[in-house]
Amino acid sequence: MKVCVLGAGIMGNGIAQLAAMAGDDAVLRDISDEALERGFAAIDKSLARFVKAGRLTAEQSAAARARVTGTTDLAEAVAGADVVIEAVPEILDLKQQVWREVLEHAPEDALFGTNTSQLSITRIASALGDSAWRLCGTHFFNPPVMMRLCELVAGLQTRPEVLERAREFGEHLGKTVVVCRKDSPGFITSRAYAILRLECIRMLEEGVATAEDIDTALKLGFNFPMGPLELGDMNGLDTFVHAVEGLAEAHGDRFRPTVGLRNMVAAGRLGRKTGAGFYEYDEKGERR
Ligand SMILES: NC(=O)c1ccc[n+]([C@@H]2O[C@H](COP(=O)([O-])OP(=O)(O)OC[C@H]3O[C@@H](n4cnc5c(N)ncnc54)[C@H](O)[C@@H]3O)[C@@H](O)[C@H]2O)c1
Repeated sequence: MKVCVLGAGIMGNGIAQLAAMAGDDAVLRDISDEALERGFAAIDKSLARFVKAGRLTAEQSAAARARVTGTTDLAEAVAGADVVIEAVPEILDLKQQVWREVLEHAPEDALFGTNTSQLSITRIASALGDSAWRLCGTHFFNPPVMMRLCELVAGLQTRPEVLERAREFGEHLGKTVVVCRKDSPGFITSRAYAILRLECIRMLEEGVATAEDIDTALKLGFNFPMGPLELGDMNGLDTFVHAVEGLAEAHGDRFRPTVGLRNMVAAGRLGRKTGAGFYEYDEKGERR
């Protein structure tokens, strides 16, 4: 199977690696050679970790690596593809532009998936005109080679057979697949998790418990690998405010960011990337 992945960033290179590890030929497409090189460097690093952990032999790793190629030419990337997964930045116009180009060059029976984390599938698909039914959301998680979930999202016009093929593809990559049947902001995962993190932030602001104790309670009480506050710091609090503002617009006030959270963002306490968020970090990004 030929899998074309558009965008060689954090998610794109991980999805290409995943496909190569499942035995597919993966083609990464990005807009510059530098971006492709960064993507390949990330794949090399990740494959080396798999070998070190004894989860792949050196031969399996080399074979997977040999199955990933890169190009800046979109027509070449999508030619003959069985599956096209788009993982370009989260900008509606950009994604629509990319899908218009894909439609021009991709085989008529290729499966189309967008890895958007919160944009409307229906709006992205509108760029495909009469072919809007071909696109669904294929939401992988970071890092794609480790996280077990693939959340499929149906746009208003997505045909059931497209979801069925996407399910087969996700399972072929070794993922457990869930389906968000309505194109609803936040899908299943981000919508549920945003409420949980907001409630943790409210508890912190009310002085109910310290950040450490809130994170520890959720980690040990519910077997979460990371607490919602520390994970918020890792992903960036500005990104989180942006996400919950969108969710509040769609689902109501329960998603409204707190005043404290807005103040943190205004003060540049964005999490690990600025050295401070709910926790403080040193120059290496380690928690103080
Ligand atoms: N990072 C995460 O944790 C995460 C998790 C789930 C979903 N997502 C979603 O996945 C998508 C990609 O996110 P990311 O974190 O990998 O972003 P990223 O910024 O790491 O990578 C995006 C890549 O796309 C490239 N690009 C830009 N325009 C392009 C074009 N026209 N054609 C091909 N490539 C192009 C960029 O050069 C860059 O290399 C976004 O929609 C994001 O919301 C991200």
